Amino acid sequence: MQTNNIILIGFMAAGKGRTARGLFTLTKKYPVDCDDLIESLCNLKIKQIFERHGEQYFRQLEQLTADWIRLNLRNSVVSTGGGFVRVKGFKQLGTIVYLHGGFHYLIETIYAHPNAKKKIKKRPLLQDLPRAEALYQERLPTYRQVADLEINIEEKTTPTICQEIVSALKLST
Ligand code: S3P
Repeated sequence: MQTNNIILIGFMAAGKGRTARGLFTLTKKYPVDCDDLIESLCNLKIKQIFERHGEQYFRQLEQLTADWIRLNLRNSVVSTGGGFVRVKGFKQLGTIVYLHGGFHYLIETIYAHPNAKKKIKKRPLLQDLPRAEALYQERLPTYRQVADLEINIEEKTTPTICQEIVSALKLST
């Protein structure tokens, strides 16, 4: 079953949300963010879900969200959380685009952001950098294995990244 969804994956701080919004400008595919869906479902921020219920509970919510997307969402661009690729049935959600940046590039980018403090604080798995790097190394093969397309995002603007995705996937604009 063709969903016509584009599913953006990648590690924290790869810019999945802003790429989804950029793709909307070009393709009119509506941007949907998995973490936003989970936050509105629980009426809690991701950080609060981790603190009150633990990571495993959050992963169950990701599975619930993936199942909902598979059954209901069409013609959209989905930005996922960095660990979303582990849900069952992931490949059925749409065309998977992996936004790749090296770990140090991603961390430098987030630290250079005007809202760096807030952006780091809201991500429980970015609090301990050596652990975050280990997580990055562990996930990298999975990102590459599930991806239909890999885009290197280093030193590129969001419009350039979006244009590359549109060209590579021959999306209508
Ligand atoms: C997570 C990434 C976060 C968010 C949660 C867990 C992860 O999303 O889903 O904090 O496991 O990598 P972003 O990738 O948008 O930061």
